[in-house]
Amino acid sequence: MKTATKIITIDGPAASGKTSVSRMLAQRHGWAWVSTGAFYRGLAYVAKREGVSLEDESALAKLCASNLWEVRMSDQCTLVFLHGHDVTSEIYSEESGAAASSISRFPEVRANLLEAQRACANGVVGLVAEGRDCGTVVFPEADFKIYLTAGSANRAARRAKEEGRDLEETKKAQVLRDLQDSSRQTAPMQVPPDAHVIDSSGLDLNEVVEILEKLTRKELEL
Ligand code: DC
Repeated sequence: MKTATKIITIDGPAASGKTSVSRMLAQRHGWAWVSTGAFYRGLAYVAKREGVSLEDESALAKLCASNLWEVRMSDQCTLVFLHGHDVTSEIYSEESGAAASSISRFPEVRANLLEAQRACANGVVGLVAEGRDCGTVVFPEADFKIYLTAGSANRAARRAKEEGRDLEETKKAQVLRDLQDSSRQTAPMQVPPDAHVIDSSGLDLNEVVEILEKLTRKELEL
């Protein structure tokens, strides 16, 4: 259903720069921003802390609706709270990304996180949402859809530098995660048919944001 809220979605593979780009784009437009990966990362973290197996689909699906934990939007980082404590700093490693990717293959989990993801668009003028299925499943009626990608060497170098990790190890982990995310049955990562595809290889963050700001201002008449 179309709402008054303007929505831009940015999907793409791991470390394509979509988190930084989408956050900055939201700032430029004065809109809200959400990284939907936080829902999967948060759930995997909470499951581990609560002793729920990452292989138990129905227990994970139940945990989605539990009020033990919640995701909160903020300008700088999509936050996760467990028992009222901010646990965000625990969820953004490549290891947490792998656990998030693993549980994201479960259809019941995806279905149960959808409502909270969509609720991010409630009561805001505009929203930039990034993830893997934002343009295809979460907000199929989005006003503007972007698929942000970059060469795999480029992406691995970016993440290895961010986390101070070995380049080859990072590359292997990303290849595996992208394969998992794009080959799952439910809501696989894919280019939405009506998306603008941007390859950020060789461009810095500001250059990508400039391109997208111009494009979205023009197309959405902002
Ligand atoms: O974007 P990210 O690295 O924070 O996402 C972590 C994992 O969560 C990703 O590998 C797959 C899953 N995910 C998803 O399935 N759908 C989304 N919209 C966002 C993330």
